[in-house]
Amino acid sequence: MKALVLKKYGGNEALEIRNLPEPAMRSDEVLVEVHAAALNFVDIKIRNGNMRPMLNYDLPLVLGNDVAGKVLRVGARVTRFKPGDEVYGSVDKKRMGAFAEYAAVAETDLALKPRNLSFVEAVSLALNALTVHQALNGIAHAKPGQRVFIKAGSGGVGTLAIQYAKAIGLEVATTTSTGNVEWVRSLGADHVLDYKKEKFENVFRDFDIALDSVDNDNPARAVQILKRGGHLIALAGPPDAKFAREFGLNPLFQFVCYLLSFRETWISEWAGVNYSFLFIKPSGQQLAELGELFENNKIKPVIDRVFPFAEFRQAFEYLEAGRAKGKVVLSIR
Ligand SMILES: NC(=O)c1ccc[n+]([C@@H]2O[C@H](COP(=O)([O-])OP(=O)(O)OC[C@H]3O[C@@H](n4cnc5c(N)ncnc54)[C@H](OP(=O)(O)O)[C@@H]3O)[C@@H](O)[C@H]2O)c1
Repeated sequence: MKALVLKKYGGNEALEIRNLPEPAMRSDEVLVEVHAAALNFVDIKIRNGNMRPMLNYDLPLVLGNDVAGKVLRVGARVTRFKPGDEVYGSVDKKRMGAFAEYAAVAETDLALKPRNLSFVEAVSLALNALTVHQALNGIAHAKPGQRVFIKAGSGGVGTLAIQYAKAIGLEVATTTSTGNVEWVRSLGADHVLDYKKEKFENVFRDFDIALDSVDNDNPARAVQILKRGGHLIALAGPPDAKFAREFGLNPLFQFVCYLLSFRETWISEWAGVNYSFLFIKPSGQQLAELGELFENNKIKPVIDRVFPFAEFRQAFEYLEAGRAKGKVVLSIR
């Protein structure tokens, strides 16, 4: 099978398509004939080696976290899927392998593909739908009527977060650049601020939740717009000590995470706000629960570009430029 392999940590020159044997399937896994795979920023961070303190891979490695395709075979202990089922999911980061013609995926990471969506559409939802669900429900326990600030409403996370927040009855404020303001409003945001013209902390007040998914921008800025008892949830870092403990990092890295997040944790505590770093956990069960929102068009896929598998380098470059409006997807077959 053709598979996108990371040879060594680095830039796009470290990636190549190779012919490999089909992946060995464990008894709790299914073998998926991959039709589409979504690109995520974490793929770039893994390629660069930035995730090494958390995820120590043996190279060469087949990349890819988000997968959609048809079940070809199932392991002896698999109970929820059968050959021919159309599935999608975000796979365990310790396993990966979605950028390939076949992927072995734990059945617990997969859900049946919503009937109204193509493979490309379904795969575009997987990681980010789980992320916003785990942030707004799992961490913040959001309730209808509450107010959420979503930084970067035009990105892969932001486009999903706006739609999900509206679907569960939240009031949504977001930021984007001048050219995207009306487009982001059309996704359902109640308040849209052009971050090129104004600072959100000078305009917004009294929010219950802030979701920050912008790299290299201080997440603690959002503390100023949150109520006491509110939640600041950071997706792009810095990781905190609680996350490091739960993720099973050794005491040295737990301490490093404590230091990395000291500013955010301290400023949040001082303002009576809860700071959390979220690292998405795969869950086919949660995707199945979200399926109704997808089938009822309450959440629609927002896809910026679909690249053929052979053009993976262009796809990585496009996402890495940081201007994507929604998701970037690889069409595998
Ligand atoms: N921890 C987790 O579990 C988890 C899960 C998902 C994602 N993430 C992380 O979240 C981050 C974002 O991911 P993504 O897929 O959403 O990225 P993305 O799609 O590449 O984000 C690009 C978008 O960000 C917007 N943007 C850039 N700088 C901005 C700023 N200062 N203010 C407002 N908008 C800005 C751009 O809009 P303009 O062109 O208008 O500037 C563009 O539309 C990445 O670091 C990713 O690793 C983490």
